[in-house]
Formats: sequence, structure tokens, C-alpha cells
Amino acid sequence: MPVLEHVRKEKGLDHTLALLREGYLFIGNRAAKYKTDVFETHIMGEKAICMTGEEAAKVFYDSELFQRNGAAPMRVQKTLFGVNAIQTMDGKAHLHRKQLFLSFMSQSNYQKLTQLVKEQWEIYSNEWVRRDQIVLFDEVNEILCRAACSFAGIKLEESEVKSRAKDFNDMVDSFGKVGSDHRKGKKARTRTEDWIKNMIEAVRLGQIPVQEGTPLYAMATYQSLEGSQMDQEMAAIELINFIRPIVAISTYIIFSALSLYNFPQCKEQLIKGDPAYADWFVQEVRRFYPFGPFVGARVIKDFQWGGMDFKTGTLVLLDLYGTNHDDRLWSNPNKFDPMRFKDWKENLYSFIPQGGGDPTKTHRCPGEGIVTEVMKISINFLVKQMEYEVPEQNLIYPMNQIPTLPESRFIITNVKR
Ligand code: HEM
Repeated sequence: MPVLEHVRKEKGLDHTLALLREGYLFIGNRAAKYKTDVFETHIMGEKAICMTGEEAAKVFYDSELFQRNGAAPMRVQKTLFGVNAIQTMDGKAHLHRKQLFLSFMSQSNYQKLTQLVKEQWEIYSNEWVRRDQIVLFDEVNEILCRAACSFAGIKLEESEVKSRAKDFNDMVDSFGKVGSDHRKGKKARTRTEDWIKNMIEAVRLGQIPVQEGTPLYAMATYQSLEGSQMDQEMAAIELINFIRPIVAISTYIIFSALSLYNFPQCKEQLIKGDPAYADWFVQEVRRFYPFGPFVGARVIKDFQWGGMDFKTGTLVLLDLYGTNHDDRLWSNPNKFDPMRFKDWKENLYSFIPQGGGDPTKTHRCPGEGIVTEVMKISINFLVKQMEYEVPEQNLIYPMNQIPTLPESRFIITNVKR
């Protein structure tokens, strides 16, 4: 695919306000305006190169050209990632840590987790029948928090479910926000890290039982390349890096519910029960709706691409949302159409809702298998195991809020099993 090379530097000193105003569309808007795949801008007082498209993704995921160390702002590390976590590592140490996460990505673990998710859907939906209205996002957060903790080997007291689920959500919800919304995420992280740190210590001292093969056990006993254990804080951060994104699948489940509502013909197809269609539907939800906006890295070796000079140390942002809506890769990209995945050829760089490249070698998300399986079991529940009504509400998801969600968090009424 030819790379569009009209090199452009944005006029003006800083474009942070434009980023806040345009959110997910910031990179795509400029790429379209300047007719380019690569342009230079200034964000938070720093020069940044923005890139979009399949060819850009191939370059971005070349570890000879980019590193992650120094790329993620502290405000993101103190809410979303945890300080100095896997997202900020490079080279062999990163790949070694990555194996720790990838070791959980097996069919048997997917089955175990989806079974736990299913059991929670049963319990929750039986209870919804007795209620006037349900805010689905908040409930699904709890469902996934319970299932993820149980899978991870963590015992959740009944009294703490709501607050823990909210803390996991607040860490995700706050990373792109400012002021009190941002501080909410930092506090949620501190509370969660303290909780899990104590648990790691108790496991190491043999004070609480832990099952081998669970993420709790793995994080408590993992040895780095140098043969040392992670300190308690780092072990807690990485365990949170396992649980928090499972809870975050609630966003995709809400977008799935929104699609079922907006596109009843898709619901009809899903009711027929063809597993291939369920796969295409899930992929289209992940392609179509906004979640991760872009990912960042720093140049480690001077090079040229698309007519642009990439100087060592420069911050570079790869447009995830825009690449998933690139009309060179997706026909009619702003149309929700699961059938587009029927003949889609697997491609590590064109469909990148959770990052690109080979997950065993790059920073691509290790959790895509979990995400698709948890979505499928949840969608199956929404489509086949319950009936509900969607009353009038504000279902708009603002594109300048990162991460975004329908404003009403998706309210349902008249639930029947
Ligand atoms: C809720 C849906 C999810 C979304 C939208 C998502 C998205 C992403 C994105 C965009 C990245 C960054 C890729 C990059 O830096 O190039 C990432 C990395 C990561 N994700 Fe996910 N993810 C999700 C679910 C999960 C799940 C279920 C897990 C694990 C149970 C997980 C664990 C991780 C980890 C550990 C990383 C860091 C990988 C690395 O730096 O090598 N994510 N994810």
C-alpha cells in the first residue's frame, strides 16, 4: 500500500487543546486534511509525530526503531498502567515479562474464565428481573470484577465487590481526564495497589492459600531475567494489569449491547446461533467503536519514513482508532457491518484495536483471546438468555472523551429471563 507522503507540520505552538476537543478523531482529522499518513504536532509542550495506517503500524512495531521506555506520561502510569510496568519495558526484559502474561492465554484458561463470567451473568440477570431499571455498564463491571478476581485466585469479600469494581473502572476511566476525574483514578490505583501488595506479601509468607497456576501465584513467584522476584509493588502492578483489563471488557460489552439495539438485523443473525457470525460481530464491535485511541513510543535510531525525519528521542503516536477506520483498508469504514470479516484475511497491522504486530514479540495486547471469548459469552447472554427493553436515554458516546461510553451507561428495563 502506498504511503501518503505530503509532509505537514501543524501550525501553532501546541495542540493539546485540539486533542482534547477532537479526542479519537485528532490524528485522523489531520491525516485527512493534510492528505498524509504522518505529520508533526505539539502535545503537552512536546513535539510529537503522529502516524496512521497499516504501513505506519509496521514501522511503529519495529523494535529496532522504537522503545517504550520514556514514552508513557506519568499521568497514564499513575492511573492506567502502574509505574514502570510491562508497558514501559523494552528488549529481552520485556519479552520475558510478556511470557508471564501470555502463559495464561490457553483454551483451557479461556474456558475457565468464560465459565466464571457465565455464572455471574446467571446470578445477576436473575436479580435484575426484580428491579425497575438496570445500568448495564455498572452491573457488567461487577460481573467481570468477580469473575476476573476469582480467575486470578483472589478472594473478594462480598462487602468490597462494588468498591473494587469501581476502582478498576476508575483507573481506566481517568487516564485521559484532568482535574478531579484524574485524581479519582490515582486514588483508585493507590487503594488497589495497597490491597494487592498485602496479598502478594501474604502469599509469599505462606499466610494465605494460593492455587498454583493462578495469576496471583504467578505474579508472586515470577522471577525476572536476572533471577530475582519482582518487589511487592511491581508484582501488584502486574497482577492489576491482568485483572483491570478484564473488567474493562465491560466497555466492549456495552458497545455490543448498543449494536444489538441499533442494528436489530445483527441480533436476528446472532439468535440463529452461527458461531462464525458471532466471531464477525465481535470483531466488528472492536473495529467500529472507540476504546484505545493511540499508542506512543520513542525513536531510538534516526530514520526516515513517509518523507519525514524521525530523530532519536522523538515521541511518536500511532493512531489505533483511525487505522481501524482507514478507507484504504476497510470499505465504508463508518458502517457497522460484521459481514466484512467474512472474507477478511488475518493481518497484524490493519486491525489494531489492541495494538499491532505479533503479541509474542511486540507490545501488542496479550489479552485479545480473553476479550473475544468474554464478549461472545456475554453477547450470547444478552441475545439468548434474557429479554429486556431499552428505554429512551442518551446513548451518545462523545468522541472527545477518552475512553468514551454511551452517556447513560446503557439502561435496560423489564428484564425477563
Ligand atoms: C478490554 C479490552 C482491551 C483493550 C481495548 C486493550 C487494549 C490494549 C492496547 C491498545 C494495548 C497497547 C498495545 C501497544 O502498546 O502497542 C494493550 C496492552 C496490554 N494489554 Fe490489553 N486490552 C484489552 C484487554 C486486555 C486483557 C483482557 C488483558 C489481560 C488479561 C490485557 C493485558 C494487556 C497487557 C499486559 C498489555 C501490555 C503488553 C505489553 O506492553 O507488551 N489487555 N492492551
